[in-house]
Amino acid sequence: KKKIAVMTSGGDSPGMNGVVRAVVRMAIHMGCDAFAIYEGYEGLVRGGECIKKMEWSDVRGWLSEGGTLIGTARCMAFYERPGRLTAAKNLVLNGIDALIICGGDGSLTGADKFRDEWPSLLAELVSTGQLTQNQVDPYKHLNLVGLVGSIDNDLSGTDATIGCYSALARICEMVDYIEATASSHSRAFVIEVMGRHCGWLALLAGVATGADFVFIPERPIDHDWKEDMCTVVKRHRNIGKRKTIVIVAEGARDKNGTKITPEEVKDLLADKSDGGLALDTRITTLGHVQRGGTAVAYDRMLATLQGVEAVKAVLEATPETETCFIAINENKIVRKPLMKAVAETKSVSKAVDEKDFDKAMSLRDTEFSD
Ligand code: F6P
Repeated sequence: KKKIAVMTSGGDSPGMNGVVRAVVRMAIHMGCDAFAIYEGYEGLVRGGECIKKMEWSDVRGWLSEGGTLIGTARCMAFYERPGRLTAAKNLVLNGIDALIICGGDGSLTGADKFRDEWPSLLAELVSTGQLTQNQVDPYKHLNLVGLVGSIDNDLSGTDATIGCYSALARICEMVDYIEATASSHSRAFVIEVMGRHCGWLALLAGVATGADFVFIPERPIDHDWKEDMCTVVKRHRNIGKRKTIVIVAEGARDKNGTKITPEEVKDLLADKSDGGLALDTRITTLGHVQRGGTAVAYDRMLATLQGVEAVKAVLEATPETETCFIAINENKIVRKPLMKAVAETKSVSKAVDEKDFDKAMSLRDTEFSD
């Protein structure tokens, strides 16, 4: 009987529980044993109770739970070979030869390295007497499939990562709340949103809430951003807008690569000197409310369909198969080479199509007739 393990790694994202549920149930449905690795790579290194056989009923009700119920961690030990050696030993001792990992690009890169090293890890386990040749023989190849779980939507090659639409929905809800109080006091709010080096959440939140101005890392304004923002905000105020919403991605940079902070944006909006906007301004850092909470329907659907596909990919893989991850492209669930996507993520900006950005942002009040 094939033994398939599922693990969540890196920052949690809404939908991860849906992934675990789908993998466990699909594995059982296909006649395999299903395992969950608790606490991410940390649990893989620790072994013991962190590696648990899962039954159909163990994941009942998990679709509507936020976070990841099997835990996650950003594990330092796995970055070092001794950690990966212990992890390999734990997998062999549990008879597991297929691993489905749901995490961000860092977690998936770590997974690919682990698969690459697998033969040499097994050889070392035998040569150091930790396992016998007979024990490792059935586990010559590590079968690995990735699922992209991240609120940032920062991986190239897939239209959406599991969790990004839940975070986006949460941000929009929060901005709506803020707008009510902003409008009441005729105030400006600078709202910082997550996304690490990616501006997808900030940009789409800007489009979805009709924000006055958005700062994202992918589009450093090529002239003075201060002047740019003030001109737009002033124009909106002049036509009678009572609230000002500026969204700043946590990774936003100016054209020199210097971080744009909510504090300096606030200072600018509040500037009382001659010609300044002099707006009563507050900063809201949305923080981890963006990541917690239940998954929206889209993420539950994505988690389920991709979890099912991951099990199929594991069962169809041969030793020659390149490590793949499960993507969604134009509404189709597809398998794609993992490392190509990771490499592209580092070189290509996924978040923004310049023309779409301009079009969407020009729907704000005054530019409506452009
Ligand atoms: O990658 C997900 C994410 O929430 C990023 O948007 C953010 O930069 C980071 O994780 C925060 O990490 P932590 O939860 O460790 O503070």
